[in-house]
Amino acid sequence: MATNRTFTMLKPDAVENGHIGAILEKINASGFRIVALKLTQMTIADAQEFYAIHKERPFFGELVEFMTRGPIVAAILEKENAVEDFRTLIGATNPAEAAEGTIRKLFAKSIGENAVHGSDSDENAAIEGAFHFSGREMF
Ligand code: PPS
Repeated sequence: MATNRTFTMLKPDAVENGHIGAILEKINASGFRIVALKLTQMTIADAQEFYAIHKERPFFGELVEFMTRGPIVAAILEKENAVEDFRTLIGATNPAEAAEGTIRKLFAKSIGENAVHGSDSDENAAIEGAFHFSGREMF
């Protein structure tokens, strides 16, 4: 059953380039309610665990290095059909292929540094949200 929640990270490139405010504004304007939010930094072990499903992929080391090089913004978002609608809002993994107006089209420069993460299923949204937030940090 759909939980109406998804999990996102504004990635180190988005934070470094000063895009936190603009991306959160776009998320709000698209009808998502922020129910958890923090500025944090993943350790190498955190990123290896978070992205464990991709550990055999050729870019795994690069992905872990990138995601740990600076702070990220982690958030849980609520909206009807949240997972699918958020994936539409962020656009294709490769910003060169992302639709006009999507977050990756607007704020990302490459497939390796693509500004934002969005959970790909309700099940993973719950797992990823719980990875970053305790129960009393979710509202
Ligand atoms: S997705 O969104 O899971 O369907 O995309 P996928 O292509 O499977 O990619 C999984 C995550 O790996 C990141 N990625 C890469 N990082 C570095 N280099 C390359 N070439 C690359 N290709 C994909 C991609 O951004 C996904 O991370 P998240 O955090 O889920 O967006």
